[in-house]
Amino acid sequence: MNILVTGGAGYIGSHTCVALQEAGYSVIVADNLCNSKAETLEQVKQITNKEVTFYQIDVTDEVAVETIFSKHQLDGVIHFAGLKAVSESVEKPLAYYYNNIVSTMVLSKACQKYGVKRFVFSSSATVYGENKAPFVETMTLLPTTNPYGETKAISERILTDIAKVNPGWSVTLLRYFNPVGAHESGLIGETPSGIPNNLMPYITQVAKGKLDKLRVFGNDYPTVDGTGIRDYIHVRDLAEGHVAVLDNLTDGVNIYNLGTSQGISVLQLIRTFEEANGIDVPYEIVARRPGDLAECYADASKAERELGWTAKRNLVDMCRDAWRFESRMMLKRRKNSDSKPSKSNTRPEIGKENMPLYDCEE
Ligand code: NAD
Ligand code: UD1
Repeated sequence: MNILVTGGAGYIGSHTCVALQEAGYSVIVADNLCNSKAETLEQVKQITNKEVTFYQIDVTDEVAVETIFSKHQLDGVIHFAGLKAVSESVEKPLAYYYNNIVSTMVLSKACQKYGVKRFVFSSSATVYGENKAPFVETMTLLPTTNPYGETKAISERILTDIAKVNPGWSVTLLRYFNPVGAHESGLIGETPSGIPNNLMPYITQVAKGKLDKLRVFGNDYPTVDGTGIRDYIHVRDLAEGHVAVLDNLTDGVNIYNLGTSQGISVLQLIRTFEEANGIDVPYEIVARRPGDLAECYADASKAERELGWTAKRNLVDMCRDAWRFESRMMLKRRKNSDSKPSKSNTRPEIGKENMPLYDCEE
């Protein structure tokens, strides 16, 4: 089966490409590389020893998207491509609404035109808003506090409405909790640009000495130790969730939480990281971050019941793998800065057939 993976060069997308290829699916990636590098797809290829067909396009570009649909017999689409920084979405709402919603519309329009009936969408636990954890798929969604969250809720509604009038369509809305960790090879992982927003990349930056300490946002929440509770899930488990979805598709709209069902506090994550890797992570307690919830964790039992999927890796695995990837990146950067600077090449060298059709900077 041929699966179009938008945003396949990104953090979750690249791990999902690996999982899909390992499960026997053929992968076609569409990514404009605005938050990733083509090199990641070379790493995917190195892990799986299989080709990745890559198009460097913007998935809000209808013509570019249709070129892929007309060239390949697609069996389904997994739509990861999107902008995801919450604070940036508050500063640049139009960019977020445009990118994240228009991309969903362009892709679903192409699916309708070319008869592609399977659509899997990367949503987020953020759509639950201020519901009380554990979050269950049947909960009424509450408003989110930022444009990023709204783009997820709106995309969910668009896809639900389209599925209603397209018999035989299968739309799956996946609400991710907090993906962390990296592939155990250390070849692919999370590479946030600039100062990270999320906790795990922040921890690894402190661990490697790039930042002097972690700021823990609040210790006065009504939780086990006063710090925020989240449901951290290994990105490899999350990726495998997508394979489980494709292996168990049913018609209509299906919604699944992809999480571990376990709430972990900020201090528990710091301690586990320190113990797993033998590294100190200095921190200070500061004020709460505006918009943060005290607790956000899944009831992921529906995915287990209906897809036979459950997260297998534990918090120690997540911390070890995140650090292994970061350590490998440090080594690589050191080696690169020791050698002569070379012209950067963002285009993949995976054969003529796989060359990008468009360049996002054009
Ligand atoms: P990421 O930034 O690493 O990957 C997104 C990819 O999409 C990048 O490679 C980027 O270059 C590409 N992209 C963005 N806009 C594009 C466009 N218009 N056309 C083509 N490519 C485009 O992010 P990620 O962490 O892998 O997240 C993947 C998806 O999962 C996103 O939709 C995100 O909102 C969602 N999600 C992520 C998290 C998380 O914590 N990482 C949590 C919940 C949901
Ligand atoms: C954030 C986003 C959410 C998005 C998710 C995944 C906000 C308000 N929410 O959620 O919409 O879906 O990322 O991309 O940005 N923390 C610290 N210090 C730090 C960083 C984080 O103490 O430097 C704490 C937070 O307060 C929180 C926990 O760590 O309790 C996890 O934070 P984070 O990784 O940013 O994820 P979310 O808050 O769940």
